Amino acid sequence: MGKVYVFDHPLIQHKLTYIRDKNTGTKEFRELVDEVATLMAFEITRDLPLEEVEIETPVGKATSKTIAGKKVALVPILRAGLGMVDGMLKIIPAAKVGHVGLYRDPETLTPVEYYVKLPTDVEEREFIVVDPMLATGGSAVDAISAIKKRGAKNIKFMCLVAAPEGVKAVEEAHPDVDIFIAALDEKLNDHGYIVPGLGDAGDRLFGTK
Ligand code: PRP
Ligand code: URA
Repeated sequence: MGKVYVFDHPLIQHKLTYIRDKNTGTKEFRELVDEVATLMAFEITRDLPLEEVEIETPVGKATSKTIAGKKVALVPILRAGLGMVDGMLKIIPAAKVGHVGLYRDPETLTPVEYYVKLPTDVEEREFIVVDPMLATGGSAVDAISAIKKRGAKNIKFMCLVAAPEGVKAVEEAHPDVDIFIAALDEKLNDHGYIVPGLGDAGDRLFGTK
């Protein structure tokens, strides 16, 4: 079974409080999601493999470390996952970015796939799938399946707010995938929204309704 990590870093928790607040407007919401994504990227990349390289400093030869292999690929789930990409790229600037387009049918709550584009060398990369919300888990489960179907072997999932139902769904469908969360909330309501959550992440990021 994959591991579930809930980030308890005070800066992440502080910023998440303002992200949740219904009085936070679009501009500030976007900025805060971007900042939290940077902080989460720092934590999620903690175990990236390193290799030793020989370099010369202005003073002499040194053996030092760089990230080994084909680096990271970020995959936001459209739309709301887009709000987390720039923040992550601030500290993983060489990462490639793929996209998976899914929307949740408002009646059935099941995800509908409309776009998948991934970087090359899928089998050698470490994928981080990002979406602010893990609610029923349908979108995350299908996005991860779409990436696996194209050959990905190494996948993590990262979100801001998760419901227990969503965590369970990802764990059951993809037991090899570790899940990284800023907050694990109480439950889903009858419309599949996370309670207390933060509302509709896509609408709050892009100012739609
Ligand atoms: C939201 C959210 C997730 C999904 C989570 O997207 O960004 O992708 O719902 O719900 P689930 O875990 O029950 O699948 P939405 O479908 O509203 O699309 P959008 O990002 O285009 O607004
Ligand atoms: N999608 C959202 O944007 N918010 C939720 O609470 C659930 C799904």
